[in-house]
Amino acid sequence: MTSAVDPRSIARDRAELWPLDRGVIFLNHGSFGACPAEVLEAQHAWQREMERNPVEFLGRRSGALLRDARERLAAFVGARAEDLVFMSNATSAVNTVARSLALGPGDEVLTTDQEYGACDAAWEHACRARGATYRRARIPLPFAAAEAAGRLLAAATPRTRAIYLSHITSTTGLILPVGEVCRRARELGILTVVDGAHAPGHVPLDLDALGSDFYAGNCHKWMCAPKGAGFLHARPEHHAELEALVVSWGYCAEVEGHSGFDAYTGSTVLERRHQWQGTRDVSAFLAVPAAIEFQRRHGWEEVRRRCHALAAETRDRVGALTGLGPICADGDFGQMAAIALPPCDPEALRAALFERFRIEVPVTSHDGRQFVRAAFQGYNTRADADALLAALAALLPQRG
Ligand SMILES: Cc1ncc(COP(=O)(O)O)c(C=O)c1O
Repeated sequence: MTSAVDPRSIARDRAELWPLDRGVIFLNHGSFGACPAEVLEAQHAWQREMERNPVEFLGRRSGALLRDARERLAAFVGARAEDLVFMSNATSAVNTVARSLALGPGDEVLTTDQEYGACDAAWEHACRARGATYRRARIPLPFAAAEAAGRLLAAATPRTRAIYLSHITSTTGLILPVGEVCRRARELGILTVVDGAHAPGHVPLDLDALGSDFYAGNCHKWMCAPKGAGFLHARPEHHAELEALVVSWGYCAEVEGHSGFDAYTGSTVLERRHQWQGTRDVSAFLAVPAAIEFQRRHGWEEVRRRCHALAAETRDRVGALTGLGPICADGDFGQMAAIALPPCDPEALRAALFERFRIEVPVTSHDGRQFVRAAFQGYNTRADADALLAALAALLPQRG
C-alpha cells in the first residue's frame, strides 16, 4: 500500500494525476466528473484481463469480481452489498425505480422544482403511462434548509405514493435534507426515491442510516471512478418489485426455472435481474475500488474541505462583483456552488467563458435566475478561481 500523500499536492500534481487538458481551466466536475490517470489505468487493466479470455472473464469470473467491487462500494456508502447493484449511471437507476413502482390512476409522485431534467422526464413518462400525476413542490431561494423538508412534506396528499428528490441538486448545488424527508415520509407511509447522482464522494454517506427506500448514485462523478459506474440501492423488501430496464438471462430463472448461469447472472433477485444485460464492458464497475483507494490515499476529506472553502470564497468574490447575495448558507453546499448572476443569456455566457477564457464552467438557470455553477475538485487551485473572477469581471455588465 502506498503511503499517504499531502492533500495539497493533489492540485500541484494535477498534470501527472489527471489527464485533464492543461489548456483548460476545468470548473465543471459536476457534469460528468473527471477520472484520475491511475484509476483509468485500473480500468484498462481490467479490460486487458477481459480480452485475455473473454469467455472465462465474463462467463465465469465477472459475477464474483462484481461482488467484490460491490462490497468495497457498500462499505464506502454505508450499505449492505446485497442491497446494491451496479448500473451505468444514476439516470438508469432512477428509470429502473420509476418504471417499477406499481403506480396506478390517481396516484401521485411528489418532487421538488429543482430536479435534473432527464430524471424529471423519466418520472413524467412513467407517471403518464400509468395515469398517475407527477407534481413539483417549490423550494424557494434563498434556500432555507430548516424549512425545506416541511415544505415538501406539506405538499403530500393521501394520494402521494412516493417522494423523489435529489440529495444534491443539479442547477443549484444545494444539499437537500434527504434524511429528514425519508424519516418523515416513512411515518406517513410514503416511499422515498433519492437521486444521489452528485452525493457519493461529495458528502459522507450512510445509506442504511439514511433510510431511503431507493437511492440512485454515481461513482463517476465525485468518487472519480471511470464513466459508466453508477448504482442503485434498494431496501430488501423492494428487491423483488424492481424490474430491469433490459430483460436478459437473469430472468430465465424466473420464467423457465433455469439455474445454470449463476456465475454471471448472480444468486439474488437484484443481481439476476439487473447485473447481466447482455455482453457489456463491466470494467468501470470493477475500477470503483481503485477510485476509492485513490481518494483514501490522497486524504480526500481534507481535499473536500479545501474545495468547499474555495467554492465559498469564490461565491463571495463573485458576489462582491455583482452585488448579489448567496442562495444558501455555507453548510448547504459542498464542492459545487451555484453563484447568482445578473440576468444574462446562460448559453452565450458559457460559450464566451470557454471560447475567450478557456474556462469550462456551466451557467445554469432556475426559476428565472442565472447562476455560474463552479465546481471545485482536487485538481483545482485558487488560480482557477482567480481566472473565473477576471473573466466574469470582463464579461458581465458593470455595476452602477
Ligand atoms: C441530480 C442529478 N441526477 C441525475 C443526473 C444524471 O447523472 P448520469 O448522467 O450519470 O445518469 C445528474 C447529472 O448531472 C444530476 O445532476
